[in-house]
Amino acid sequence: MSLSFEGRVALVTGSGGGLGREYALAFAERGASVVVNDLGADTKGGGKSSAAADKVVEEIRAKGGKAVANYDSVEDGEKVIQSALDAFGRIDIVVNNAGILRDRSFARTSDLDWDLIHRVHLRGSFSVTRAAWNHMKNQAFGRIIMTTSAAGIYGNFGQANYSAAKLGLLGLANTLAIEGLRYNIRCNTIAPVAGSRLTETVMTPELVASLKPEYIAPMVLWLCHEQCQENGALFEAGAGWIGKLRWERSQGSIVRQKNQPMTPEAVRDQWDKICDFTDATKPKSVQESLLSIVSVLSGLDSGGGVGATPTAAAALASGVNPAEAVGQKLPPSTFTFTPAQCILYALGVGMSTKDPDHLRFLYEGHEDFSCLPTFGVIPSQAAMMDGGLSSIPGLNIDFTQVLHGEQYLELYKPLPTSGTLTSEATVADVLDKGSGAVILLDVKTFSGDQLICFNQFSVFVVGAGGFGGRRTSDNAKAAVPPPKRAPDVVAIDSTTRDQAALYRLSGDWNPLHIDPSFAAMGGFKAPILHGLCSFGFAARHVLKHFAANDPSRFKAIKVRFVKPVMPGQSLQTEMWKEGNRIHLQCKVKETDAVVLAGAYVDLHGASEASLGNLTQHGALQSELVFAEIGRRIKDSGSELVRKVNAVFAWEITKDSRSAAEWTMDLKNGSGSLHRGPAGGKADVTITVSDEDFMEVVQGRLNPQKAFFSGKLKVRGNIMLSQKLEVILKDHAKL
Ligand code: NAI
Repeated sequence: MSLSFEGRVALVTGSGGGLGREYALAFAERGASVVVNDLGADTKGGGKSSAAADKVVEEIRAKGGKAVANYDSVEDGEKVIQSALDAFGRIDIVVNNAGILRDRSFARTSDLDWDLIHRVHLRGSFSVTRAAWNHMKNQAFGRIIMTTSAAGIYGNFGQANYSAAKLGLLGLANTLAIEGLRYNIRCNTIAPVAGSRLTETVMTPELVASLKPEYIAPMVLWLCHEQCQENGALFEAGAGWIGKLRWERSQGSIVRQKNQPMTPEAVRDQWDKICDFTDATKPKSVQESLLSIVSVLSGLDSGGGVGATPTAAAALASGVNPAEAVGQKLPPSTFTFTPAQCILYALGVGMSTKDPDHLRFLYEGHEDFSCLPTFGVIPSQAAMMDGGLSSIPGLNIDFTQVLHGEQYLELYKPLPTSGTLTSEATVADVLDKGSGAVILLDVKTFSGDQLICFNQFSVFVVGAGGFGGRRTSDNAKAAVPPPKRAPDVVAIDSTTRDQAALYRLSGDWNPLHIDPSFAAMGGFKAPILHGLCSFGFAARHVLKHFAANDPSRFKAIKVRFVKPVMPGQSLQTEMWKEGNRIHLQCKVKETDAVVLAGAYVDLHGASEASLGNLTQHGALQSELVFAEIGRRIKDSGSELVRKVNAVFAWEITKDSRSAAEWTMDLKNGSGSLHRGPAGGKADVTITVSDEDFMEVVQGRLNPQKAFFSGKLKVRGNIMLSQKLEVILKDHAKL
């Protein structure tokens, strides 16, 4: 789709000629209302005329575009912005482009040469941008361009004043990019090269003629479009080429030794290493920069207090300290519900009496009245909704910047249709994704002491990264891409205009989904649908097409939220069956944009479903753990075979009677798990009750202790029981 600026108001300073004129024409051509600002000065900043701006406005209007002229100097930013507000009622885009030159060798640079250049370039850009800032903040949209120059980036003979002001603009842009991030204001810097009256004196006429300003304008337009999320970046451009620049930092060298004074000789001796760019790093933030410096202290100054450890350095730099946060628990929350909540939820995720199959979820008098499996997210989110996350030590972050990144839900038994559930949430990990932090929150939901379901919320906190943490976690339930073939089934379903208004009644009261002004603050044109509402739609599409709407077949779901859905749009769920796993991807039908990605639903096989029912009646909790172990063997069986190299037989007892047998072959091929006896192959046979097995798995009972107290009986090669921890260790969370 072509990029339109319809409805946007753009100000281009110094657009009476040169590059600015080109930008103004291009914005107007694509529907923007343009303020053509130009003082009409000569190249040195002298003189004044309205002719330059007027001419460009006439050109725009002649082509049917919308434009007004403004003749104020950019030093009077308030006046310049006021003319945009007077003419068009808003300001969306500011391109700081106005400029002059007063080139002199440094020795001959006068105070006036210095001050004039700084007043027009640096102070002018500051003044105009500050006047626009609050308008952009309030409307939660803004795009700002600063214009620097190669002379600023690299230095240039005779341009000390200009170089200093031009690189000053980059510093200004870097900070605006950070301060504007949460208001959907993006600020970038460009260093153009084009023929203009400014470059006439330094370029040959041929170059001036061929380096056309229209080769720069398309980049400016893209950077100013709402689709472009680029922020805090620097670009060089000319002749149709565009490149991005960034900082590089050598590995450097520590030239100080523990308990010794630091000397210039040591600096001299390490100079080559200090300046060696082999394996250079590319720090992107003050936090990243500071972190590596502060962490040097830990190597040199022992006992130096909090500042002397890398972890403390991370906390100091960003307010996020995984070492402190991980493992912290939120206060438990309880959730009481009746069939009414189950029905409200089902309506919230688009169920309708139009489909006779849906009645079992909508009518409490139906003989199979059931709760939709994805209702399992509702009790667990109560803990987070209470704002519990902000009270966690080590998570000193801006919670207005939180996005729901991913969700995993696993049911251990079909959900009841009424009752009181208790949820316990634990911070499972905090990851550093650079541009933000990801908090993994594991929530276990119980009915009494029976574990009903497990949720993993993956919450992205924009701007909270750079604390030097890990990027990935073994604790994360990973999203999985779908197979590379056409989907096996595609289901299309429309959401209604009031879908979000209805869904929120199930417990997510965030005004983002109902209040237009709140949505605008988040950078959205209108309130958006809850990600977990689309999640509910997608899950029931799978349930309908692959499990005959039988909730006991549902085992688990994972999704990654990619883009928002607007209420009223249609959801298209594409599904691929791979055994009991149904991969899925959800798109907005109208735009073809993927909204849920890397998603899947795991179903119990038709035979396992009866096992699910068994569990429902309180039979075996260990089934679920074995199922999980089975999955893990599928994923990383070879590694387990290498570590364990044995066949384990399990006898699980219930009420002192044998209730299930499992054979875990971690010796042959890439490992396997099946239900049933080992048939003499077992190296070791372990007998344990269902309850004690769960105690061991949850880390409440040490396997060795269980053995010595007689709760866990081992036959065969007893030494192999030591390997149990390797097999069970990842299931402590279950
Ligand atoms: P230009 O001289 O054609 O355009 C600059 C415009 O700014 C002029 O129309 C001038 O009247 C206006 N202006 C000057 N002082 C003003 C003030 N106080 N208030 C409002 N308007 C004012 O020059 P060009 O080449 O189009 O430059 C545009 C920007 O690009 C400048 O900031 C320049 O420093 C920068 N630049 C240009 C390069 C090139 O190769 N043309 C190279 C690097 C940077």
